[in-house]
This record gives sequence, C-alpha cells and structure tokens, in this order.
Amino acid sequence: MSTPVLEKVEAASAASPYITVTLRIRRFKPEVSADAYWEDFQLELDPKERVLDALNKIKWDLDGSLTYRRSCAHGICGSDAMRINGKNRLACKTLIKDVNPDKPITVEPIKGLTQLKDLVVDMEPFFQAYRDVMPFLVTKGNEPTRERLQSAEDRERFDDTTKCILCAACTSSCPVFWNDGQYFGPAAIVNAHRFIFDSRDEAGEQRLEILNDRDGVWRCRTTFNCTDACPRGIEVTKAIQEVKRALITRRI
Ligand code: SF4
Ligand code: FES
Repeated sequence: MSTPVLEKVEAASAASPYITVTLRIRRFKPEVSADAYWEDFQLELDPKERVLDALNKIKWDLDGSLTYRRSCAHGICGSDAMRINGKNRLACKTLIKDVNPDKPITVEPIKGLTQLKDLVVDMEPFFQAYRDVMPFLVTKGNEPTRERLQSAEDRERFDDTTKCILCAACTSSCPVFWNDGQYFGPAAIVNAHRFIFDSRDEAGEQRLEILNDRDGVWRCRTTFNCTDACPRGIEVTKAIQEVKRALITRRI
C-alpha cells in the first residue's frame, strides 16, 4: 500500500499539464548562410503558456542564438509581432493551446519587410511611413493658457485609432504592401486618422494631401487582412475608408 505522501506525488504527476510541443522556426543567420531554413525545437510546455514563453525557453535553455524582439511581454510595446501558423499575431498574446499544438507550430518573421536575422525584420520602412504622416498634434499660433478642450463626442471620433501600438501586424499582412513596399500601409493611415479627425489639430488637410499620393490610401484594396490581424481590435479597414471618404468630400 502506498503512503499518503507518495499518493500525493503520483496524483500531482498524473495531473501534469505539460505537453510536448514542436516549434518550427524560420531561421536566418546571414553571418553563416544567405539562405533561410526551418528548424524544429521540441519543448515541454503548459498549453496555457504563450508562444513568447516558448521562444524564451528555446533562447535561454536550447539555443542562445535565436533572435527575436520582445519587451513588455503584455501586448503593449508592439515589438513581437510575428507569423504564427501563417497568421500575424503578438507572441506574448498567443497561447500555445490556441494554435493547435498537436502539430508543429510554425513561427516566421512578418512579411513584406526584410528579414535581418531569425524573427527580426528591418522596421525602418514601416516607421518612415509613420513619420511621413506627421503623427503629432499640429496647431498654428494660439498657444493655450490651459488644456485644449474637446467634447466627449469629438474625442470619440478618433478613439479607436488611438489604440495603435505600432506592431506592424496590419501593414505586414497587406498584399498590396507585400507587392510594393512603397505603399504607406494600414498602420501609417491609422495614425494619420488619429490626428486628421482630432478637433484640436490643424493639419488634417496636409495629411490628407500626403495620403492622396499614388502610394497613399487609394492603393488599399479593402481585403480586411489588416483588421483581422490587429491585436488591438482596431477597425483598420474602416479607418482607411473614413480617410478615403474625407478625401472625396473634403470634410473632416
Ligand atoms: S493598427 Fe493594429 S495591427 Fe496595425 S500597427 Fe496598430 S496595433 Fe498593430
Ligand atoms: S512583447 Fe510587447 S507587445 Fe509583445
């Protein structure tokens, strides 16, 4: 007959939540080879852990050369967008149990931006498009002596687009951006929207002209990939449509 202590240990191990998971990662080490390749890693994971936890285990315990961006680990900084099972997601917001761990889970860099190393891409074209739409409040003269007031209705007008964390999941899921990296892309338009429809801002017309460019909003084919990809739940396609409508009606 087993002792009570042993029974407890056996019960604990029988209830172990850990499962064996394969992460199939798109590796690229330019200092070694010009070709990218797939590499499999097997891990024991609790299905309630996140893909970021799995990447950290690989980096800390199995292969310190694995390279990826992350910072906050809580869906705020936007640095760990990647393609997980073919869909753009934040690794820190994606649970293992939600990405079919019975099969190898594929992890690749986001598309449309140059892969620099493993899961790290060159974000500069993305941030250049962001800078180009002037993502800051512009006013002319009339320096306020107290805060600039705004009604709740006026604030609501651009509430959705204030939530952007610049993760690039939308832009790098857009087929137009894949085919021609010159397109401003959804994220830049979302951040232009945030100021175009801000009643305190005075550069809306200027931003609309910037987005009237041949690489601006008219390149959007309304595929909704961007809205599907956004981890913040922003209605990206709707924001792009509102900018298009403002350009046609010239009413902000
Ligand atoms: S709109 Fe959404 S998907 Fe696009 S950069 Fe902002 S947070 Fe990321
Ligand atoms: S690590 Fe910051 S959003 Fe995922």
